[in-house]
Amino acid sequence: MMTKPAEYLVFLGSARDSTPPQPARLGLRVARQCVAQLRETGAIVRLVDPLEIPLSAVFKPHFSHARGRAPAELEELAQYIESADGYVMVSPEYNHSMSPALAHLLNHFGSSLFAGKPSAIVTYSAGQWGGARAAVNMRTFLSELGCLPVSAMVHLPAAHTVLDPDGNFLAGVDEPAWRGYFRRTLEQLLWWSEAASRQRANPAARFPGAFDRSPTQRNAPEAST
Ligand SMILES: Cc1cc2nc3c(=O)[nH]c(=O)nc-3n(C[C@H](O)[C@H](O)[C@H](O)COP(=O)(O)O)c2cc1C
Repeated sequence: MMTKPAEYLVFLGSARDSTPPQPARLGLRVARQCVAQLRETGAIVRLVDPLEIPLSAVFKPHFSHARGRAPAELEELAQYIESADGYVMVSPEYNHSMSPALAHLLNHFGSSLFAGKPSAIVTYSAGQWGGARAAVNMRTFLSELGCLPVSAMVHLPAAHTVLDPDGNFLAGVDEPAWRGYFRRTLEQLLWWSEAASRQRANPAARFPGAFDRSPTQRNAPEAST
């Protein structure tokens, strides 16, 4: 068992603040349901909202600043990412791809902050496919980022017909079935994050394969001539 409460970050992938079709970002409902279910386990859970993190107009990631000299919001989020045991990535589907707002936010942080910890993919849409196509490339993205996605995923079609703006299930939906659907993915996240936490706490188990000088340390050897 973990000795301290597990910590999770739930990243909300939408930075849309316009209407219609829904009065607010659909993603807030989905992210809030994930936060609520994780909190029921006793975990410390933070919702990361891209609208609350001012990013510079010119792309300058956290790791491009001198150590400890990045803008306060980036420094704070970097610390939360580093101390978290796992991540939930909640993304809408935009043009069959993951949210550009989520990708942009995550691109600000180096893979070492995420390394050795799992993630869960949760996608949604206003339409009928639930963001399943976005989820496919999220696996690639999150694997490269270092937080390997667990096998189970949540895809939520017509999210506005399932969850209210606070993230509660609407009257008339089969709540036990929907809760169970979310829980299957979140329980996999908890299982892997507990295992990874134990491994990170093991002084004999250094995380393998990290590069410490240059990304070229990951390269295949030169082909022989
Ligand atoms: C630029 C853009 C592209 C979209 N592409 C898709 C899509 O490929 N598949 C889909 O199911 N819905 C698509 N939608 C509809 C979204 O599912 C819907 O707008 C949803 O509310 C977005 O989530 P949000 O409100 O949290 O931003 C798209 C919406 C936008 C604004």
